[in-house]
Amino acid sequence: MTPASDIQSEDTIHRGPPVTVNRYGPAKRVNHWITATSLILLALSGLAMFHPSLFFLTGLFGGGQNTRMLHPWIGVVLFFSFYVFFFQLWRANIFNRADMEWFMGVRDVIGGNEERLPEMGKYNAGQKVIFWSMAILIVILIATGVIIWDQYFHSYTSIQTNRIAVLIHAIAAAVIICVFIVHVYAAFWTRGTLRAMTRGSVTGGWAWRHHRKWLRELAGRGRIDPAE
Ligand code: HEM
Repeated sequence: MTPASDIQSEDTIHRGPPVTVNRYGPAKRVNHWITATSLILLALSGLAMFHPSLFFLTGLFGGGQNTRMLHPWIGVVLFFSFYVFFFQLWRANIFNRADMEWFMGVRDVIGGNEERLPEMGKYNAGQKVIFWSMAILIVILIATGVIIWDQYFHSYTSIQTNRIAVLIHAIAAAVIICVFIVHVYAAFWTRGTLRAMTRGSVTGGWAWRHHRKWLRELAGRGRIDPAE
């Protein structure tokens, strides 16, 4: 069963024509793009410090010293921007029984036969996996990142703790880069999704095709813009 909180304050159907559905308000979109920009900068600056063959990337940040100084601060920005987002979206990302069926029928999703699967609420199981993976990985990254932030926290941890933290930090970073690639690929691959994060709305057809339960619920509750 989709929890009532699957619907957020700004989710509204506009009669059109054409019919559109609000999915993200301006504040959520700005926050999302701050998060996205931070992660990209973190990946570039992190990779620059990860291996000598990638050291040339420090040029983007004004040299090695600056890269080392900036990277943790960008991490702090990512942490706070994502967690504002997290508290707004976590309820809509709780797994339910329909998600299991989505996983079992993922071939139909890839094959464009979503009709064979249960109707989805605001997020499908794949989006939920990405959401929780990002949330967990960001916590791991900030926790290990603080431990290895020698400029401020060097005296609080042992060298052994530091070494373990560096290893976990690097593994979590590699995994989140993969998760990020899957997220961006899915956003482009599922046509009409990107405008949810650029314009804030999707077409009625997109909502009907991919998140029908969410659309039905909005209609059922009368969340329809009366002005149009
Ligand atoms: C250039 C990179 C990115 C693009 C093009 C992109 C695109 C999008 C789009 C189109 C959506 C709306 C999907 C929908 O409502 O169905 C979305 C949602 C979202 N994005 Fe991104 N994104 C990017 C980077 C990131 C990064 C780096 C993070 C986190 C570290 C992130 C976290 C999220 C979350 C949490 C959602 C809400 C979906 C959910 O709660 O399951 N995105 N993104």
